[in-house]
Amino acid sequence: MLQTRDSSLHWNGRPIVLIGLMGAGKSTVGRRLAHRLDIPFTDADQEIETAADMTISEIFDRFGEEYFRDGERRVIHRLIDGSPKVIATGGGAFLNAETRALILSDAIAIWLDAQPEVLAERVSRRDTRPLLRDRDPLEVLTELAEVRNPLYALAPIRVPSLKAPHEVTVEAIIKALGL
Ligand code: S3P
Repeated sequence: MLQTRDSSLHWNGRPIVLIGLMGAGKSTVGRRLAHRLDIPFTDADQEIETAADMTISEIFDRFGEEYFRDGERRVIHRLIDGSPKVIATGGGAFLNAETRALILSDAIAIWLDAQPEVLAERVSRRDTRPLLRDRDPLEVLTELAEVRNPLYALAPIRVPSLKAPHEVTVEAIIKALGL
């Protein structure tokens, strides 16, 4: 099930960056993965909220998406500092060309890939995401998947995020990292 472009891939301590759409499980899986590898975990969205002292919804409402994206780019550049850690990124972070290039060169990107139906069910548990506020989540996630999946596919590791316990995904990642 798991796809690794380079079968000889072996994790060498570079930051591990989880990418993928909203609801893919980046934060939950990332936290567990970090625990298993005994390295720190950072959630980029939370770092942005802390830096701005506002929630992501408040940032979107008061300053707009472009302002949020700029903060997101700066935070991720700060987090990728060469030290071993797991970083969960917001679903749009990898769309920024500069951020994408940095992640691909200085970190190891892992795409948590899930079907829009699975994602829509998961995101319905929280309503903190501005992009999903006024529309049908399945419709938005289907559209985003079309645009974003070709970019996420540039990650050297793709792990399907199924309707299964997150521990299954963590195991798949550990295997893909050659550990
Ligand atoms: C976004 C995803 C969110 C958050 C923001 C925008 C996106 O993060 O960064 O609401 O553009 O996909 P999660 O992927 O952690 O939900």
